[in-house]
Amino acid sequence: MANDASAAFDTLSPAVFKGSLADPFTPPADSSLWRKNFLLGAATASYQIEGAVDEDGRLPSIWDTFSATPGKVLAGDTGAVACDHYHRWEADIDMLASLGLEGYRLSIAWPRVMDAAGRPNRKGLDFYKRLLNRLKEKGITSFVTLYHWDLPQHLEDRGGWLNRDTAYRFADYTDLMSRELAGTVDAWATLNEPWCSAYLGYGNGHHAPGLANDRFATQAMHHLLLAHGLAIPVLRGNDPASQKGIVANIGRGTANSDSAADQRAAHLFEVQHNAWILDPLLKGEYPQDLFELWPGTEPLVLDGDMQTIAAPLDFLGINYYFRTNVASDGAHGFRDVPLEGVERTQMGWEVYPDGLRDLLTGFKKTYRNLPPIYITENGMASDDKVIDGHVDDAQRISFLKRHLAAVDQAIKAGVDVRGYFLWSLMDNFEWAFGYERRFGVVHVDYSTQKRTVKRSAELVAKFLKERKARV
Ligand code: FCB
Repeated sequence: MANDASAAFDTLSPAVFKGSLADPFTPPADSSLWRKNFLLGAATASYQIEGAVDEDGRLPSIWDTFSATPGKVLAGDTGAVACDHYHRWEADIDMLASLGLEGYRLSIAWPRVMDAAGRPNRKGLDFYKRLLNRLKEKGITSFVTLYHWDLPQHLEDRGGWLNRDTAYRFADYTDLMSRELAGTVDAWATLNEPWCSAYLGYGNGHHAPGLANDRFATQAMHHLLLAHGLAIPVLRGNDPASQKGIVANIGRGTANSDSAADQRAAHLFEVQHNAWILDPLLKGEYPQDLFELWPGTEPLVLDGDMQTIAAPLDFLGINYYFRTNVASDGAHGFRDVPLEGVERTQMGWEVYPDGLRDLLTGFKKTYRNLPPIYITENGMASDDKVIDGHVDDAQRISFLKRHLAAVDQAIKAGVDVRGYFLWSLMDNFEWAFGYERRFGVVHVDYSTQKRTVKRSAELVAKFLKERKARV
C-alpha cells in the first residue's frame, strides 16, 4: 500500500451521464418500496456536519488533528464549521421532517460527550438528548451510530485502535450513552465502516490518524470488531427495546477477464472488502484468504475474542457505493483495471446498481444467519450548483432510482431488506475530499449556511407523500 496521502485525491474523470430529468422517479407499482414499513430516511455523521469543534467542552478528535495537517485534506478543509449543525439542528430536523423522510441516521461525537477521565460531559450529552427527543416528537425513526470515525485524540495518543484498551474504552462510552439515551433511540449501530477506520486510517493513511502499515490495519480491525462485540451486550442490557447492529461498507469486485487468475483476483478483492468484516461478525472467524493477500499480518487474537465479536445482531447496516474491476497483479493480489466509457460520479466512482443486488443475494447464500438488512448509506457526489434557486441533480435522481430498483430486486430474491438511508441529508465535509464533493440531497452554501432542497429530495418527498396517502 502506498504511503502517499496525495493518492487519496486521485479520481477518474466522471463520464457524461446520459439520463434525463424527464425520467419518472416513482417506483413501479409492483415495487416493494411501496410497502409502508420499508423505512426511507437520510444519513449524516457528526464530524461531517456539526462544526463547533471546541464548544461546550468537546475535546479534539483524530479528524481535527488530521485535517489540520497540511496535505491531508483537499484544499486544506476541516470540519471546524462544516454545516454548523450544532447550532442549526432544529431547522435541519424541521427540513428532514418537511421532506417526509421517515428515518434519520446520525452519529454521536465521542469527544463531545465524555472527558478524558471517562466522565460524562453534560452539555454535549444534552445536545443529543434534545435532538433525539425532537426526532421522537416528529415521529422519525432514529438510527444512532456510536462511532463514525471521530476518535478522541487522547485515545489515539495512547495508540488508538492499535491499542486493545481502546475497545474497552469504547464499551465504557457505549455504556454511558445507552444509559443516558435509552428510550430515545430506535436502533443503535456500534461502528460505521470499520473497514475504512482500519484500512484507510491505519493501512494506507488516507484517513485519520494517517498511519500506513498492513499489519496495523489488521490489528486495528480486530480491536474495532472487539469493541463492537463488547458493546452489543452492553446495549442489550441498558436499552433492551432498541435494535442493535453495525454498519459495514461493501464493495463489488468484478474480474477483468475469464482467466482463473483474474477470477481469483476478484474473489480476493471481495475477501478484502467484505469477508474481512462479515466473516468475523457472522461466522466468528477471519477469512484465511486475507492473509494470502497480506502474508504475516494475522492480528493478535486472544481466547474468546472471536465469540465476543460474533455476538448476534438485530440488523446489519450496509453501505454501498460502487464496483471495482480488477485483474491479478501477477503475484498474490489484485490491481484495479478501471473500465472505459462507464458512467462515473464526481468521485470517479462507477455507477453500478447491479453490484448492490448481487452482493446482497450473495450474502444471503454465504451467511446462514444473515440478519435483517438496512441500507444505511447509498448516494453519490455531483458538482451541484444552485441556479435560480434550484438544483437539478439529474444524475443523482437516476442513481437513486436505479439503486432502489436493485434493492427491490434483492428483496424479491428473498433478502430481508427493511430500509434505505440516502447518503446524505445535506452536502457536508467529505473526509479527505473536504467540501468539494457534494453528496447531499440538500445543497449547502458554506459561505451563508443556506440550505437548498435539491430536485432529488423533492422527488423522494413526492414519492413518500404518495405512499403515505395510499390506503
Ligand atoms: C462512507 C462514509 C460516509 C461518507 C460516504 C460518502 O464511506 O461512511 O461518511 O463519507 O462514504
